[in-house]
Amino acid sequence: MVTDRYAMPVIGESYEKVLQQVKDLKAQMTQGQRGKLASTTFQGHEEMAQLTHEAFNEFMEWNGLFTFQEAAAAKMEDEVLDICISLMQGDEDSSANLTSGGTESNFNAFHAMRKWARETKPSISQPEVVAPYSTHSTVHKTCQYLDIKVVTVAQNPDLSCDMSGLEAAIGENTIGIVGSAPNWPYGQVDPIAEMGALALSKDLWLHVDACVGGYILPHFRKLGVNFPDFDFSVPGVRSISADLHKYGYAPKPCSTVLWRSRDEYRYHYMPITEWACGLYLSQGFVGSRTLGPVAGIWALMHYWGEQGYLRNAQRILDVKNAIISQCAAIEGLQTWPTDGPLLMIASDQFDIQLLVGGMEERGWRLLGVTSPPAIHLTLDVMEQEYLSRFLEDLQELSEDIQNGKVTKEGLLSYGGVGAGNTAPKWLLKAVEVLNERSAQ
Ligand SMILES: Cc1ncc(COP(=O)(O)O)c(C=O)c1O
Repeated sequence: MVTDRYAMPVIGESYEKVLQQVKDLKAQMTQGQRGKLASTTFQGHEEMAQLTHEAFNEFMEWNGLFTFQEAAAAKMEDEVLDICISLMQGDEDSSANLTSGGTESNFNAFHAMRKWARETKPSISQPEVVAPYSTHSTVHKTCQYLDIKVVTVAQNPDLSCDMSGLEAAIGENTIGIVGSAPNWPYGQVDPIAEMGALALSKDLWLHVDACVGGYILPHFRKLGVNFPDFDFSVPGVRSISADLHKYGYAPKPCSTVLWRSRDEYRYHYMPITEWACGLYLSQGFVGSRTLGPVAGIWALMHYWGEQGYLRNAQRILDVKNAIISQCAAIEGLQTWPTDGPLLMIASDQFDIQLLVGGMEERGWRLLGVTSPPAIHLTLDVMEQEYLSRFLEDLQELSEDIQNGKVTKEGLLSYGGVGAGNTAPKWLLKAVEVLNERSAQ
């Protein structure tokens, strides 16, 4: 039978040869240069990355499912989570768990919310949550897993959250409200205080998706940046998801789900005893997991301290301001006002996908927003050399597009089959079955 399925070599190759191949493959990745700009990974500084990688390697083989047996592992987890709870302005009664990412943190929060609603609102059999349209795809995804309907409300014309629309969307099956800090598509921190007041008045669970902002907004605030309050200082916020592997700079996979009090986290845990080996209890949905990220973030929190995170946040603000100023000076480009470390670039004069295409040809891999169309930047501590090149490329390409010299459109997306057909087989097959499904 003819097959293109890749086969494992029967006889192994040499250690050196295999390692060299791994290095060659790594060299082909776009985001090889630290300090450039990589919307899909958080790279930070070289020195800090070395430390987190070394710490990760020390603990890579340890299984975080079994931290109950290891005092050193428990110490690292406890200390990291205590710091996270403080950053989210929790109190003595607050609690937090480590998870594999924003998706799992959101999943755990909605799972607890649903369990709470089953107990406190037993008449609801088809639970719903209301959320601004800007809510992240993983809110939809995790709610689909949990059979919770997400009712979204269109944004205001300035892309902010429409609070009266949100209130009007609350119905007899609503169990919760979802806000973001900031939301991914538009970069704005939702009016969490208003959402909290609404949640309290209607006895709903307010979950804040602070996966992007959780571990940088507290530092931005200390640097004098203004944005709506979003954490446990806001009455009505019951759970928060915040990713350490984003602006906490933990090695992936590493996120947190935080609970205001015992009233919330008692709905989280899923102890299993109906099997042959006694109690099974995990921090979240995931079971076995490497302790590497925990060691990585523990090391970084101690190495940088608050001052290091503040310095990092300041550099990101400087990068953001430099890009905003450059776009304001370029004919046809605008940036959207955002509250945190995300920045969107749109054009009222040309197809922004041409700018994505042109930037791609110059080695910049960018993500996008589709409604309305814009380039989506997840800002990081760009080194001056890369920042200057990025600003120059924006300027040159915007001129070239207006002179008709750039014709290749790039993809404005968070996923999908990208340019150059580099997608892996699973994705090509997924697109195939999804097309078949929608044709039926
Ligand atoms: C607001 C928000 N929530 C959730 C997620 C999902 O995070 P992860 O990819 O770590 O699962 C993201 C990812 O970018 C996000 O921006």
